[in-house]
Amino acid sequence: MKKVGIIGCGAIGTLIAEAVGNGIVKCDGLILYDYNNEKADQLARSLTIPVKVVRSLDEMIKLKPSVIVEAASQQAAKEYIRRILKGDIELIVMSVGALLDLDVRSSKIHIPSGAIGGLDAIASAALAGISEVVLTTRKNPKVLDMNNREEKLVYEGTAREAVKLFPREINVAAALALAASPEKVKVRIVSDPKVTRNVHEVKVKWKHGEMLLRFENEPHPENPRTSALAAWSAMRLLREILQRNP
Ligand SMILES: NC(=O)c1ccc[n+]([C@@H]2O[C@H](COP(=O)([O-])OP(=O)(O)OC[C@H]3O[C@@H](n4cnc5c(N)ncnc54)[C@H](O)[C@@H]3O)[C@@H](O)[C@H]2O)c1
Repeated sequence: MKKVGIIGCGAIGTLIAEAVGNGIVKCDGLILYDYNNEKADQLARSLTIPVKVVRSLDEMIKLKPSVIVEAASQQAAKEYIRRILKGDIELIVMSVGALLDLDVRSSKIHIPSGAIGGLDAIASAALAGISEVVLTTRKNPKVLDMNNREEKLVYEGTAREAVKLFPREINVAAALALAASPEKVKVRIVSDPKVTRNVHEVKVKWKHGEMLLRFENEPHPENPRTSALAAWSAMRLLREILQRNP
């Protein structure tokens, strides 16, 4: 019996549960946990597949899911990762920023490409030597709780600092920092009234060339900070892990 545990029944958790419901991801049942009980209950009610709602992480671990997807928050990831690994369970971490602070290494931790892609190429370049990665993220002022009418640079600094100051907005910086190295990644966040999508532009200078990657992602209607692509990247990874572990 392959069961999948989902921690966090918000925008991403819901899309992943729906993907199980409509057969995009194949497993025998879901275990849902959210510290806001109502969110887990509500999601369970909307699904037609076998679902068990639990009231704690320990309860989830006892039910022995094959994979757990953390789709909650950096704080949740920091609090739960070691406990999940002790249970010998595969883990997909969405709140990637948490990993920059934690000294945990395990082949059971899986990081989705999230709201961007090309991390394979960047990690390959990092082996040869990267001189600089610059991430410029543009979001509509509303998404950043601002009301500027002209483009405004909200933040410029390191990936390590950016994930602390913007824990919900800039997981992309953390993913880049893990693919290259945190010291090489510079982050710019722009509040731009001209954009309605979340736009991430990544420029890489490395030993044997340069890269330019650009992603324009529709924001999730219920959580505009989150791009739908992030949830789809988790679904793809989840499918892969489930197929690999019969
Ligand atoms: N890797 C990426 O590229 C990427 C992209 C977007 C979002 N994210 C991250 O993924 C996570 C989920 O995003 P979302 O848009 O679904 O958020 P959301 O706010 O829509 O949902 C999060 C849910 O988790 C629950 N939760 C929060 N802390 C919890 C805890 N300690 N224990 C149990 N439940 C808890 C909340 O009640 C909420 O229902 C966030 O940390 C977000 O920053 C990552």
